[in-house]
Amino acid sequence: MRVREKPQFKTLYGYLRMEKELLGKYTMPGIGFGTLGNTGDAGCALVEAALAEGYRYIDTSRYYGNEEAVGRALARSSVPRGDVWVTTKLLHPRTPPQPDLRFELDKSLRLLQTDYVDLLLIHWPRPDVSLEWALGEFAALRAQGKARTIGVSNFPTALLRQALGIVGDLAANQIEYHPYLNQRPLLYLMRERDLVLIAHSPLARGKVLDDPVLQEIAKRRQLSVAQVALRWIVQQERVVAIPGAQNVEQLRENLKVLDFTLTNDEMTAISALARGTRIVNPKHGPAWDPA
Ligand SMILES: NC(=O)c1ccc[n+]([C@@H]2O[C@H](COP(=O)([O-])OP(=O)(O)OC[C@H]3O[C@@H](n4cnc5c(N)ncnc54)[C@H](OP(=O)(O)O)[C@@H]3O)[C@@H](O)[C@H]2O)c1
Repeated sequence: MRVREKPQFKTLYGYLRMEKELLGKYTMPGIGFGTLGNTGDAGCALVEAALAEGYRYIDTSRYYGNEEAVGRALARSSVPRGDVWVTTKLLHPRTPPQPDLRFELDKSLRLLQTDYVDLLLIHWPRPDVSLEWALGEFAALRAQGKARTIGVSNFPTALLRQALGIVGDLAANQIEYHPYLNQRPLLYLMRERDLVLIAHSPLARGKVLDDPVLQEIAKRRQLSVAQVALRWIVQQERVVAIPGAQNVEQLRENLKVLDFTLTNDEMTAISALARGTRIVNPKHGPAWDPA
């Protein structure tokens, strides 16, 4: 059953209605700022700007090399830490081996200048790392309060079922999801098991912006194409989006998708655009669900 809160809170620019997905006693905002590529001082400034604009959800990873920049922004911002959902990820196949996950999370917490993350994710399934071991360590870190919730990323259906067999109450699976990629089997499984689908690369890194159907809806509704694509995502039950942004204008535009709704016909027309386009498809990726 869908339970979605719609409280209002004040930002620099007025009141914003922020949709949230409930996860036990915690709530995950419906839209977040994905910080891949936003490093150093410029990355820090953009995260700070995102918080000032009203974002209450920041997505990072050890692999992004920007936990320190995100931490500085969180520390500088006037937004209280408790009001921000912070996700980080460990175990990316291209990071150095991480045999001591307790040590690694402590390092992330130091860099992020916080005592806990709201969500800790396994960045990618890794055949060279025991899933049972990794999730067991994550569950222990959750029990210690260092990660409020735990989950996975880039897990197709079979692997997600396996993960849920090890820890039954995972909070989320962060996967590529946009109008060009149908993820229905995963979405249905996640709804059944009460996980949140976190849509990464929700604009297909800009590929959906030239789509004529999205452009027509955007023109008719006086919205941007990015807003239409993001609204299609966040309007779905148990789905949130973490678009990236290069500047404050994009950040601002992307946050406004919580202010309007698409009609059922518009939602259906956008769902029909799926064509199996997968932007994030590295060699180390798992066997994906058929698209
Ligand atoms: N778990 C994983 O393995 C994984 C993998 C990939 C990404 N992610 C997460 O997902 C987040 C988002 O992914 P992403 O940044 O790669 O792709 P994305 O969100 O699909 O695309 C972001 C890019 O689209 C453009 N854009 C953003 N807002 C726009 C707007 N309003 N109008 C026009 N263009 C706009 C910007 O690029 P330009 O201005 O240059 O066009 C921006 O860098 C990442 O930051 C990361 O947090 C996770």
